[in-house]
Amino acid sequence: MSVWTIVVAAGSGERFGGPKQLMALGGRRVLDYALAAAAETSDGVVVVVPADADWDLGGAVRSVAGGATRSESVRCGLAAVPDECDVVVVHDAARPLADAALFRSVIDAVRAGADAAVPGRAIADTVKRVEGDVVVGTEPRESLVTVQTPQAFRASVLRAAHGAEPEGTDDAAVVEAIGGRVVVVGGPRDNLKITEPEDLARAEALIRERELRA
Ligand code: CTP
Ligand code: MG
Repeated sequence: MSVWTIVVAAGSGERFGGPKQLMALGGRRVLDYALAAAAETSDGVVVVVPADADWDLGGAVRSVAGGATRSESVRCGLAAVPDECDVVVVHDAARPLADAALFRSVIDAVRAGADAAVPGRAIADTVKRVEGDVVVGTEPRESLVTVQTPQAFRASVLRAAHGAEPEGTDDAAVVEAIGGRVVVVGGPRDNLKITEPEDLARAEALIRERELRA
């Protein structure tokens, strides 16, 4: 089965205050971690970049311009994935702590028959529903997970799910919307998404820890 990974890196980093994909982290750029894990586990990599980007991505990847939303950027990437590809992985450039082992675990779940596989984590906090600042209910935490990327998909299912150009905060949501079977694999605690400036310092500490352990 051939596997391609789409690394989405076309966001503007509004909450961070600039292009977080290019920030220095452990001697590389944030984006380089996603590229390395993708290259290690995939037959090909498509990187989706801002329309005006002139980034050095190394020779082995395809790069395409993204769109106004994350879902649009994924579709731009999907258009550059070869037709004969069987499994497509979608990963946020803003998650530098996702390693090759995590990529393999979502890919393997799709190889084993799921339409899609996502890394998920149980929630430790109690979850309340609110209206403004008033609590109107408590959610059953045991049936909730928070999910991350990389997310893997049977290629035909992901293409079908994106066919009507839906919007979602992740790709599993658009697959769920067409009735696809999405399974959850264990998501690492440290697979943080760099969203705000403080997250970069946390990522730096986690990468240093990982290097000390290696
Ligand atoms: N992304 C993208 N195209 C967009 C929006 C987001 O490729 N139009 C990518 C980002 O580059 C990032 C991933 O999707 O790697 C997750 O998005 P997010 O963390 O929200 O990044 P930004 O959209 O850049 O940040 P913000 O929402 O704060 O502007
Ligand atoms: Mg965003």
